[in-house]
Amino acid sequence: MGHKRRMRRMRRAARAGLGPLLAAWLTTGALGAFPAGAGADQAYVEWEAGGGAIAEPLGGLSGDPRRGRALAVRKDKGNCLACHAMPIPEAAPYGDVGPPLTHVAARLTEGELRLRVVDEKLVNPATIMPGFYRHPRHFNRVLPGRDETLLTAQEIEDIVAYLMTLR
Ligand code: HEC
Repeated sequence: MGHKRRMRRMRRAARAGLGPLLAAWLTTGALGAFPAGAGADQAYVEWEAGGGAIAEPLGGLSGDPRRGRALAVRKDKGNCLACHAMPIPEAAPYGDVGPPLTHVAARLTEGELRLRVVDEKLVNPATIMPGFYRHPRHFNRVLPGRDETLLTAQEIEDIVAYLMTLR
């Protein structure tokens, strides 16, 4: 957006009585100074799905299975255990809404696992599993500053690396 249009928008917002808050948001937004969130330190990376899989690691990153295991447990991160059984005895009991993931790497390839963690809706549009790296074009009416993926590209790769150990 051009500087003039931005100023006009701010003045219009002020006139509309939307108050200093909105004007401040428009200003900071224009300067790219949104409050930091989960993914703010990592820009969204594009990915390509084909043949029921995402073959390439997000952003070419390599995952760490140890970190992935921890992320799967954390309620503010993957929280996979809310719906899936995984061989993480110290974090039991598990939810059982989703299939057990105990031997998931024996039935799915790395690329298939990546697609499911990125956005299970691309596999099953009716799923209740969150899309942990949904494409932002699917975000609808998300508040400014909250328009980020649930996990970062690195965190997705860590979780995929962990899932690959579940044979
Ligand atoms: C709110 C519940 C929920 C959460 C949280 C959740 N899932 Fe799922 N997941 C499901 C359901 C239900 C399915 C079954 C397939 C479907 O619904 O499309 C599934 C399917 C999967 C599959 C495919 C399994 C197969 O055998 O086909 C994988 C892999 C998977 N989930 C991994 C994860 C990981 C890793 C996490 C955490 C980062 C996670 N899920 C978080 C509900 C959940």
